[in-house]
This record gives sequence, structure tokens and C-alpha cells, in this order.
Amino acid sequence: MSRPDAILDIRDLTAGYNAVPVIRGISLCVGKGEAVALLGANGAGKSTLLRAVSGLLRATEGAVLLSGETITNLAPEKLVRKGLSHVAEGRRIFRRLSVADNLELGLARMGLSSAETARRFEEQYALFPILHEKRKDPAGALSGGQQQMLAIAQALIRRPTVLMLDEPSTGLAPILIEEVFDKMAQIRAQGVSILLVEQVVERALEFVDHAYLIQGGRLIADGPATELKDSSAIRKAYMGDVSIA
Ligand SMILES: Nc1ncnc2c1ncn2[C@@H]1O[C@H](COP(=O)(O)OP(=O)(O)OP(=O)(O)O)[C@@H](O)[C@H]1O
Ligand SMILES: [Mg+2]
Repeated sequence: MSRPDAILDIRDLTAGYNAVPVIRGISLCVGKGEAVALLGANGAGKSTLLRAVSGLLRATEGAVLLSGETITNLAPEKLVRKGLSHVAEGRRIFRRLSVADNLELGLARMGLSSAETARRFEEQYALFPILHEKRKDPAGALSGGQQQMLAIAQALIRRPTVLMLDEPSTGLAPILIEEVFDKMAQIRAQGVSILLVEQVVERALEFVDHAYLIQGGRLIADGPATELKDSSAIRKAYMGDVSIA
């Protein structure tokens, strides 16, 4: 399953809560500049997998490699410095802080010079002009879509090699979902590898190169997005749950 060109290489990972495994023996690869989707119904274990990869949750078995280096169970701050950024479920921004201060938090403890910090801000403001416009406003005053952009920018300002996004389109109107996908395409065009958890399955499969499907914490299918689109596994995994129309 591992590939020589993998940037993120997850091998037989098992993790859970209170010693009860939720995900079991999951292997998944993301290549350089590749976008990969992690799909599955509610409660399948998608967020648990991302948490175990980003050090928020202890993996009890298996390994995670980033650019060939074993990073299993390293502390989240260490992983961030190594180039792995995770935009968690929900919009984890500080509502009372300004947009600019939220971005600054993304750079906490990175020890960058002020010139480099300014450069990083400029990059994010170029990608998300609305954040520049609203840089002095409290983050809580932003719309849902803008808050999601801020959460993504906060992760991106660290210049990750791999960006993991957990349901970035949740709760957004269709036009804003499109905007999120448009930004993700730009991010990927800059060479960042993306691991995307997404409920809007059809749209996700249009965007990614490869997709993995999990059910009950286990990998049940994976393949090129174009092939998975028509697979019965997808329909089965989501039966009675999420509409994929
Ligand atoms: N903090 C926790 N403590 C105990 N069990 C948890 C915890 N978080 C999640 N679980 C359980 O782990 C399983 C997988 O949850 P997870 O959040 O990973 O699913 P998911 O695929 O991300 O679902 P969703 O699409 O709803 O976000 C579920 O059965 C859930 O109840
Ligand atoms: Mg989840």
C-alpha cells in the first residue's frame, strides 16, 4: 500500500478513545501535490483518523510517516513544525480576537522574523482578500464561510507540506462550498498535498485524485476518484445516511 512518492504515509493505524479502538488498521497515502479524500458516513471514524495523525489522539498501533520520517504520536506542535497542518472539524477560531490576531496565532512558537511574518501574512491576504479587508474585525463577526477561510488561512500560514481539512464545507451555502473548493484548488496548485474529509461526496470526488472509504473504522475501498464515483461501495457506505445525489 505504501508508495515511494508518498508525502503522508499512514500504515495500519489503530486509535480510539479510552482504550477502545475506533479506527482499526487503516493505511492511506497522500503523494506530493496530490489531493486525497477520506470518505465515510457519520461516525465512521474520519475525524478520529485525522486526530491520530496530527497527534491529538494517541495511535495504539501502526505508524505515520511524513516525507519518509516516522512521526507517529509526536506532539501536535512538533508535527506542525514538520509541515503537517490540521484544520479541525468546526471552526476553531477565537471569535473575540481580530482576524489578524487569529492568523498570528497560526505562527505561534515558530520563531519567524518580523519580515518573514509579514511575508506569510501577505501570502494569506493574497489568497483570501476578504481576510485582508476584515483584518481588524473580530473573527466572530465574520460569516460562516469567512470563518472557514480564516481557519484554513491559520493552518496555511505555517506553509505546511500536507494540509488536512475536516469537513470544511459543513454548514455553508452551495455558493460558499464552491468557494472553499476553489481555494483548495489554488492551495493544491501551490504544491500543498491535501487530505480532505468531506460530506459533499460528489464534489469531493470531482476535486481529488484518489479517495479512501471507511466504514465502522475500517477501510472498505479505495481507488482513483473517477472509479470510486461509480462504485457500489460508496452507495452502500452512505445508505440511509448522506445523500450523494
Ligand atoms: N471524544 C470521544 N470519546 C469517545 N468516543 C468518541 C469521541 N469522539 C468520537 N467518538 C466515537 O468514535 C466514533 C467515530 O467518530 P468520528 O468523530 O471519528 O467520526 P466521523 O467519521 O468523523 O463522523 P462525522 O461525519 O459525524 O464527523 C463514533 O462512534 C464516535 O461516537
Ligand atoms: Mg468527523
